[in-house]
Amino acid sequence: MASKCIAPSVLAADFANLQRDIEMINNSEADWFHIDIMDGVFVPNISFGMPVLRDIAKHATKTIDVHLMIVDPDRYIKTFADLGSNILTVHYEACTHLHRTLQAIKAEGMKAGVAINPHTNVDLLEDVIRDIDLVCIMSVNPGFGGQSFIENTYKKVKQLKEIITRNNANTLIEIDGGVTNKNAKKLIDAGADVLVAGSFVFKSENPIHTIKNLKEIVGT
Ligand code: DX5
Ligand code: ZN
Repeated sequence: MASKCIAPSVLAADFANLQRDIEMINNSEADWFHIDIMDGVFVPNISFGMPVLRDIAKHATKTIDVHLMIVDPDRYIKTFADLGSNILTVHYEACTHLHRTLQAIKAEGMKAGVAINPHTNVDLLEDVIRDIDLVCIMSVNPGFGGQSFIENTYKKVKQLKEIITRNNANTLIEIDGGVTNKNAKKLIDAGADVLVAGSFVFKSENPIHTIKNLKEIVGT
């Protein structure tokens, strides 16, 4: 898995022109597709579900990084594998038996990710860090695109990086929410590997150029 990735969040795409926006990501320097699945229970919003992901996967030519913001995600692990997910991220706050959930994701041939809300301390992941392929640090409260970045995130990235190093783990650190060209470099310097960017990419005048610019900032 490549490090220092840019993962545009499809949540900010134009759903009436979804194929156009998928092709834009295919043709850009972006590394992954970030797909936000919301159930209206774990977060106060509903995004889109399986049929839409199935169609996205038909056109997408890059890694599909699925971020489940749903309660009891164990119910759908196999479904998301069958739909073409390469990375499946569940929320720490939604899993009673996280270790078991991580093994179930890997058993379906996907990389296993864990997302943590802004209030969740990274120390809680230490005992499973070697089982986690990716930690998604939420830098906004999950549920909506276009929110402002929470500054405490830098501290969490540094603390998590220490835990990863101390345990000799290969875990990637992903940052999700409010990422722009203003905070990208500082996040990478703190230890981040993957930056998700929704509004900053899709609401810009030239998304391809914006992605190229972010790639330059993060390096390869
Ligand atoms: C928020 C989602 C994010 C969101 C990011 O709940 O998990 O992936 O799409 O959007 P921006 O980059 O606009 O904050
Ligand atoms: Zn997300």
